[in-house]
Order: sequence, then C-alpha cells, then structure tokens
Amino acid sequence: MNTPLFYEHELADRESRGFIINHLAIFAVRQYGVIHLYQNRCPHRGISLEWLEHQFLDASGELIQCATHGALFLPESGLCVSGPCRGQSLIPIAFTVIDGGVFPEIQGLGSGPA
Ligand code: FES
Repeated sequence: MNTPLFYEHELADRESRGFIINHLAIFAVRQYGVIHLYQNRCPHRGISLEWLEHQFLDASGELIQCATHGALFLPESGLCVSGPCRGQSLIPIAFTVIDGGVFPEIQGLGSGPA
C-alpha cells in the first residue's frame, strides 16, 4: 500500500471513520490522541457496527457502540463492557504510522509504503 489509509490529523479526537480495504470492513477511532483500528464486525452477530456512515461512537464519544443491540466497547482495547457480547472483543487491526500516515497491516496490502 503506497498511500496511507488516512493521515492522523484527519481524524479528530472522539471521531470515527469506516473504510473498506480488499473487501474487509474496518474502522478507525481516535480517543485522547490515540488512534485505534478494528474490524467492523460486532462479536455478537458478526455484522457491521455503525448506525450511520462513519458513526461508530456513542453519544458521549467515549465508547464504540453497536447500533443493532447497543453493545458498548472500549476504544483502547475493543473489549465489550456492556450488551449481549459483554466480555468479547472487537478484532484489532495492526498499523504503522509513517510521516503521519496510517498504514494498516492487512494481509495482501503489505505493512507500509513500498
Ligand atoms: S449485533 Fe452488535 S450487539 Fe447485537
């Protein structure tokens, strides 16, 4: 992957954004300056989390929320802390940051700029 998925400055604190890469749905959230990437797949039913495009957070902006049954997840770990999949976790996506660009490490894409 020669171009970053996005640049760090493009995602403000308590914002989220969804992406499709090689048919894999993922999303990014930023909280307290730290970016986290996860697969867009709720561990409860295996479906997408968001209620509107790019909207993965609850009203407080503090927790990731599944729109279907309201499960809540910690942005820093992906752990479900409330809802039908409590104790399960979102699947994290490893990534590297180079010159402010976020490069997800997804099989078939490589791990950074070529
Ligand atoms: S599908 Fe996400 S909480 Fe049920």
